[in-house]
Amino acid sequence: MHYVVRRITAEEWRELREITLEALRDSPDAFNLSYADTAAQPDGHWQEQAATEATAEERATFTVRDEAGAWVGIAGVEPVPDVPDTVCVRSVYVTPAHRGTAGPAAELVRAIIRHARDHTAAQWLTLGVNESNGRALAFYRRLGFEDTGKVIPYVRNPAEKVFILGYPDFRSGARTGSK
Ligand SMILES: CC(C)(COP(=O)(O)OP(=O)(O)OC[C@H]1O[C@@H](n2cnc3c(N)ncnc32)[C@H](O)[C@@H]1OP(=O)(O)O)[C@@H](O)C(=O)NCCC(=O)NCCS
Repeated sequence: MHYVVRRITAEEWRELREITLEALRDSPDAFNLSYADTAAQPDGHWQEQAATEATAEERATFTVRDEAGAWVGIAGVEPVPDVPDTVCVRSVYVTPAHRGTAGPAAELVRAIIRHARDHTAAQWLTLGVNESNGRALAFYRRLGFEDTGKVIPYVRNPAEKVFILGYPDFRSGARTGSK
């Protein structure tokens, strides 16, 4: 299947809300937000979020659409609070019917890495994955992410660990140029 990956636009706040809520319903333990809190946000929250993610320098959200134009995934990048020169990949989600190596997940994450390289001055790129999320860990390792040894508690369940992975080739670009 042919997929289209691109940054969201400010007008796409309804689609952003829909796929974010889908992600939180599908994978409640993979993200820091709760479904109930997120579902309760007013339209203005999503309008503001979409406008920021579409235009900000240091952060962005990308969407992937299938051949019919339906949103089948999202991924974002943003600065890591209190960690200098570092941005992180966040909110990576692909709808279940489009998962697997023939799906768009790798293309989507590579696009967000390229965006971060081209549009931020950060020197390092990281991401956090819950210890129980074996599928995401395998996926990110295949893309070239490596363990940093850093482990933090999962904010929604501090008994669970979040592994911090780094992307060694962030500034060389060696691994994002090809699929
Ligand atoms: C994470 C995500 C974007 C990856 O996309 P995907 O299309 O599923 O990824 P792929 O199928 O290409 O790769 C998944 C890898 O996990 C492996 N895998 C599948 N199920 C697994 C499991 N239960 N445990 C461990 N590994 C598993 C696959 O074999 C594959 O590894 P390989 O490339 O070494 O063969 C997608 O699974 C998703 O949206 N998950 C729900 C949300 C989420 O967890 N987001 C990440 C938050 S950090």
